Amino acid sequence: MKLSEEQIKQFNEEGYIFLPSCFSKDEITVLNDAAAEIYKSDREEVWRESSGVARTAFAAHTYNEAHRRLGAHPRLITPIEQLLGGDVYMHQYKINAKAAFDGDVWQWHQDFGVWHRDDGMPEPRAMNIAVFLDDVSGANGPLIFLPKSHKIGVIEAGHDVQTTSYPLWTLDRETVQKLSDEGGCVAPIGPAGSVIMFSSLLVHASPPNISPLPRTIVYLSLCRTDNHITKFKRAEWIAHRNFEPISALNDQCLEDLIGNPSSVAAE
Ligand code: SIN
Ligand code: MN
Repeated sequence: MKLSEEQIKQFNEEGYIFLPSCFSKDEITVLNDAAAEIYKSDREEVWRESSGVARTAFAAHTYNEAHRRLGAHPRLITPIEQLLGGDVYMHQYKINAKAAFDGDVWQWHQDFGVWHRDDGMPEPRAMNIAVFLDDVSGANGPLIFLPKSHKIGVIEAGHDVQTTSYPLWTLDRETVQKLSDEGGCVAPIGPAGSVIMFSSLLVHASPPNISPLPRTIVYLSLCRTDNHITKFKRAEWIAHRNFEPISALNDQCLEDLIGNPSSVAAE
């Protein structure tokens, strides 16, 4: 799948592109069933909220077949190669649960700010993709963006190791207010299967989910192979060391798993 000139213009201007219903309900069911199994396991890659419900499962593309296929899906990989202008590798892969009632906040941050400071990623030649595994609405803790905030580079941040179970370099309120006054503050919402592609410099956050509706989103963080990380202080399953270019699979790769749950188990 190639992006149109209009979509590329929108990305350059706003810092993100929203693609509603990019994956079918059946494809999403395959991924959701796999996520539910992963959350039940006691793998070290699964981090939990203080209530015990899953918050994030890292690196599922390395131990689950459905997520391996999503991590090399042509509807995701080809547009990112197009936007970044070269081969990409997987820097990080996570399934964020934002569970009903208990899903906790993600404070305001830029992902590249974290990858640069913590992992020594040289340049912001990296992107995020969010794939909605549930319908995302204003009610269940959507991702919130400050449009155009990707244009000003890495913003000063403080290391927050307290407010959630996940350490993050976060922005202060004054900065967030200023950026919102300038470019607005939006929450792209849509049905399960929708996709957002967003700059690794775009400032974003998400509120807690106190609704009875789950809000699972998978994030692929893709980086150009010639821009790989240079510091290795975080676990390999949080900041990957496999810098080999991803070869996109065929467009049917997830459909081929529909109704074949045994192949959803780890390979
Ligand atoms: C993130 O920014 O990495 C996660 C945000 C979310 O899942 O709500
Ligand atoms: Mn983020």
